[in-house]
Amino acid sequence: MTPKHVAIIMDGNGRWARKFNKERFFGHNSGINAVRESIDTSLELGIKQLTLYAFSSENWSRPSAEVSALMELFMLVLKREVKKLHENDIRLSIIGDRQRFSSSLQKSMSRAEALTRDNSGMHLVVAANYGGRWDIASAAQRLARKVAEGVMSPDAIDETALDREICLSQEPPIDLCIRTSGEQRISNFLLWQLAYAEFVFAPELWPDFDGTAFDAALED
Ligand code: IPE
Ligand code: IPE
Ligand code: MG
Repeated sequence: MTPKHVAIIMDGNGRWARKFNKERFFGHNSGINAVRESIDTSLELGIKQLTLYAFSSENWSRPSAEVSALMELFMLVLKREVKKLHENDIRLSIIGDRQRFSSSLQKSMSRAEALTRDNSGMHLVVAANYGGRWDIASAAQRLARKVAEGVMSPDAIDETALDREICLSQEPPIDLCIRTSGEQRISNFLLWQLAYAEFVFAPELWPDFDGTAFDAALED
């Protein structure tokens, strides 16, 4: 059975670059091809929802040169690839705390979302400056605000109420979460949303994760 919603922790770019004696950035750059390939494979297989972990709340603590290189890469990819997404009837959404990104990057993100908003072929969600704990805390904050405003009683705060406030609440549940590079951790990804997901830990480093590897993960 084809899963409806696949989430991927794209890991291993740095190690991939090291294999070629190159800077870590070389790996991030090559990782873009794997992103393209995972989108193509999802389209082919009829996976309607793909959620990719691109940058975690904790990734700011990497060396500043790597962080700025990643920001430039996000900017470039948004400029270069969004038209293609749109032509393929793909809707793009970004989840995470955007306030920490530069205003030009925030603008690019909003523009890309607005352009693709009505597309229905597939939904691509990119998690950027995302953390599962941030997500749960933000949802709790929104509920608390409703209580303070008097429009909600504290007793009405239950799983359904929190679920409605959390990222991806409008999307089908995640059937499968893949993490590449052999690491077996959740690294603060969608903590709430992955409650019942199955996990596959793929051995390939992210830039090597092609259609065949994706198929193998699904088969698994
Ligand atoms: C994943 O690859 C990409 C991001 C987190 C942005 P890494 O950069 O974590 O690569 P490794 O884990 O060091 O090999
Ligand atoms: C998780 O990978 C975050 C992303 C893939 C964006 P990391 O490589 O940053 O995670 P840790 O630090 O090894 O747990
Ligand atoms: Mg890593």
